[in-house]
Amino acid sequence: MAKKWLVVITIMIAVQANAQQDSKMNQFISSLMQKMTLEEKVGQLNLPSIGFDVTGPILSEGVEDKIKKGLVGGVFNTYTPAAVRKLQDIAVKESRLKIPLLFGFDVIHGHRTIFPISLGLSASWDPALIERTARVAADEASADGLNWTFSPMVDIARDPRWGRVSEGSGEDPYLGSRIAKAMVQGYQGNDLSKDNTIMACVKHFALYGASEAGRDYNTVDMSRVRMYNEYLPPYKAAVNAGAGSVMTSFNEIDGVPASANKWLLTDLLRKQWGFNGFVVTDYTAITEMIAHGMGDEKKVGELALNAGVDMDMVGEIFLNHGVELVRSGRVPMAQVDAACRRILEAKYKLGLFADPYRYINEERGKERIMTADKLALSKEAAIKSMVLLKNANQALPLSAGKKIAFIGPLVKDQRNLIGSWSGAGEWKKATSLWSALEQKFGANKFLYAKGCNLVDDEALRKSLNEHDGQIATDATPEQLLNEAVQTAQQADVVVAVLGETAGMSGEAASRSMIGLLNNQSDLLHALKKTGKPIILVLMNGRPLTLEWEDKNMDAILEAWFSGTQAGPAMADLLFGDANPSGKLSMTFPRNVGQVPIYYNAKNTGRPFTEGQKYTTQYLDVPNSPLYPFGYGLSYTTFSYGDLKLNKTSISGNEKLQVSLTVTNTGNYDGTETVQLYIRDLVGTITRPVKELKGFQKVSLKKGESREVNFTLGVDDLKFYNGNLQWAAEPGEFKVFVGGNSQEVKEAGFRLVR
Ligand code: BGC
Repeated sequence: MAKKWLVVITIMIAVQANAQQDSKMNQFISSLMQKMTLEEKVGQLNLPSIGFDVTGPILSEGVEDKIKKGLVGGVFNTYTPAAVRKLQDIAVKESRLKIPLLFGFDVIHGHRTIFPISLGLSASWDPALIERTARVAADEASADGLNWTFSPMVDIARDPRWGRVSEGSGEDPYLGSRIAKAMVQGYQGNDLSKDNTIMACVKHFALYGASEAGRDYNTVDMSRVRMYNEYLPPYKAAVNAGAGSVMTSFNEIDGVPASANKWLLTDLLRKQWGFNGFVVTDYTAITEMIAHGMGDEKKVGELALNAGVDMDMVGEIFLNHGVELVRSGRVPMAQVDAACRRILEAKYKLGLFADPYRYINEERGKERIMTADKLALSKEAAIKSMVLLKNANQALPLSAGKKIAFIGPLVKDQRNLIGSWSGAGEWKKATSLWSALEQKFGANKFLYAKGCNLVDDEALRKSLNEHDGQIATDATPEQLLNEAVQTAQQADVVVAVLGETAGMSGEAASRSMIGLLNNQSDLLHALKKTGKPIILVLMNGRPLTLEWEDKNMDAILEAWFSGTQAGPAMADLLFGDANPSGKLSMTFPRNVGQVPIYYNAKNTGRPFTEGQKYTTQYLDVPNSPLYPFGYGLSYTTFSYGDLKLNKTSISGNEKLQVSLTVTNTGNYDGTETVQLYIRDLVGTITRPVKELKGFQKVSLKKGESREVNFTLGVDDLKFYNGNLQWAAEPGEFKVFVGGNSQEVKEAGFRLVR
């Protein structure tokens, strides 16, 4: 009892302390805002880019001069203490009110130490690990002068043609929500004002991952029910975790682009979800509403401000028209005041008013960036992210005693290892597979051939190289192929290392065909003809179509773009010093025609039935994916015992205990991700055939068994019904537990009122 009171008193003290802090902040900001002119208030809403590569056609100009005049709230793409100090100096020494700047950057999967691309990280199914990577990213970014990251990207994605699937956590709202929360916590810690925490920015709000046909920036249209149940949860989880800012998406929702969508930005985000940070647009998203057909510059500025946008990234629509929009009465003064206040609050919470130089410390950078512990985490994350897709006859792990030929343009590659969105990452600091092998086994231990150019298609190569692709063409395709075949013939086993280039996924990198490029596929076919066993190691940023590879390769390891330590991680996995444990967070289709394909689909009124024509199916391909959501092998095997439920029905606050025994039945110690799904059999709206509701990672020594327990409560059974109420409906449920979304044990229970 005494303990309970202690908790209550502690909470009350914390609430009071927060309220005091808030009132101190409010007083400070109110008194500052009293001194501000309308121009200066509008200035706070302006976010230009300075100093780095850009992702749109418009560049920011004259930024230093604007800072001096108080016309800039923050900048992005400027980092390193020296560069940040230079701009912060102008703001706090030369502008009238000396308001410090925010410094933002796309710190997406690491800052200097690069971790696997986000899609890869999500395949670890390890939120605690992901939180640690975000913590390290914040530590390095803040040591580089930054205080704000445009991450996490939490867009649910079911279409692998979309290049940006590489930046998110895949297709599932539950897994996506767990990761969103972990990332916000990792970046922001428990105190934003610490010099090693940075403010998160959840993006892209909202539904950006559902762009039609997987074409970037394309139209989105979906029902509210789908939105609430399947796409919005990760954004909400990030907001609940306290994310300081939200970025609007480029797409439209209900026919209104996100940056003008008042329902989205005010009714949903602020009123329903209680978000109290600030909203920034994506790169020139307000300006782009002219092309969307929403009106001229002034009109789109008016729409954005009135919808609830606080900060305009790069477009300078607010800067150029904000004052006039207020003076002419098209935008209420209160709207600009509220936006300005929110941005000043963020600066206050980051501690910038107390010390504008808080994040600028040359010494800290030297001590904190790319240290041994950070590199070790990068390797750990890479190992845990890679997914073993096939392993026939225990082709893996390799024995170093064999004669092994490593073949492919990615064997020695460094450039692509850090993937897209690795702005401050230096690819030259990434360790290739080949260097890792040399470090592990000494030089000249293995055979090597490049096999093919990474990209032979001239148009594609040109466009990738225009954006720093650095794709070389060393020799003619015939020479490379012949050399590869000869090399393979001398070997006992071939390891082919193929895939995409970093630039083939990420922003503006949609593909209509998502197989290996033709030249790489030709190489694999030629290698196959040698009759040697082939291990395929893939580096790529999206699910690929791999039907031929699945039939013809002996083993396939999905290595993604795994960052600074990609090489050592691959080497450890290939030779059995580590055991694969990654599980797909996104379905791999058999072919592009199946897309969008995802595990949590609806049953339809005519579920597929073998031999019955008028059921939902294709004439030319099965409905099932090549590799389902949640799938991934290990060098060992796991068996699942029968499901045990402690009750056959639950009601009210009762909990259902779901347990089963998992046994490591193979020859290696290993880690399994045990996944729990449910199905609500009858609802007032149709329900998915499966929904992930829990998972646990279990490490088992060979031969070891363990009971795994899950608890399900009524909250886990809730969904947004046709009236968008969050409620559980009494009736029959199924519960499934297994090592992926398809191979599961099942049982049933009832929810009763
Ligand atoms: C991207 C965002 C990114 C922004 C700033 C945009 O093109 O869509 O994800 O945060 O640029 O670099």
